[in-house]
Amino acid sequence: MSSFIVARELRKTYRVGKVDVPALRGISLSVEKGEFVTIVGPSGSGKSTLFYMLGGLTRPDSGSVIIDGVDFAALSDGERTRLRKSKIGFVFQKFNLLPTLSARSNIEIASDIAGVKPDSEFQKQITEMLGIAQRLNHRPSELSGGEQQRVALARALINRPAIVLADEPTGNLDSKSSGIVLEMLRRSNKDLGQTVLMITHNPEAAEYGDRIIHMRDGQIVAPEENPQWTPHHPAAAEHLQS
Ligand SMILES: Nc1ncnc2c1ncn2[C@@H]1O[C@H](COP(=O)(O)OP(=O)(O)O)[C@@H](O)[C@H]1O
Ligand SMILES: [Mg+2]
Repeated sequence: MSSFIVARELRKTYRVGKVDVPALRGISLSVEKGEFVTIVGPSGSGKSTLFYMLGGLTRPDSGSVIIDGVDFAALSDGERTRLRKSKIGFVFQKFNLLPTLSARSNIEIASDIAGVKPDSEFQKQITEMLGIAQRLNHRPSELSGGEQQRVALARALINRPAIVLADEPTGNLDSKSSGIVLEMLRRSNKDLGQTVLMITHNPEAAEYGDRIIHMRDGQIVAPEENPQWTPHHPAAAEHLQS
């Protein structure tokens, strides 16, 4: 049986004026259903490009992305959009909330877009877990960055997507909000069985994953070439036990 998420030999080069900027130079990876995988690597190593590709938001120059046996390349734009809305929740470093809507509407809009009825009981549950239940009538500009990201995470989770993709979700957050966001991702993975892929710069955050993938220069680096990354960061281990 093949893996839940499969990427095969993904390549992508951006063209900037007359200059070719290679972003992905042949990335292959497999993620099993229910795994929590973190992806780390220096800035410019292609992590966000990979994120957009795994989410079906950009196409590779070559190579394929196969989600639950379905090859993105075999789908029409409409089918790909539908698959994305029904199966994937996205969290971005810069939150991407709609500024004119309340936090509540920002969350509910995900259900509207997916064409499903908002599950108010589940919404109550996750917004309470995220500590934003009392903030739902506020607009993003009236919320702290940490609160905005927690709203964005609630939006990503509200339809119970099988896959949660997060691109540096704690990159702009203080440590309290980071902890809440990471803990929620962990619960969505362990309690709800969601498959989570998280890109991060933070070694402690990376330890929330079951497995760490290292990227450099558009490629995956073999684990043995990363001696500075110990498999179990003591602080993360402590946090998980408490
Ligand atoms: N839209 C774009 N146009 C041109 N170059 C881009 C674009 N997006 C990313 N790049 C380049 O591709 C490379 C990988 O970028 P990115 O995927 O954002 O890496 P990371 O998320 O690891 O920082 C970098 O050299 C970056 O400058
Ligand atoms: Mg990035």
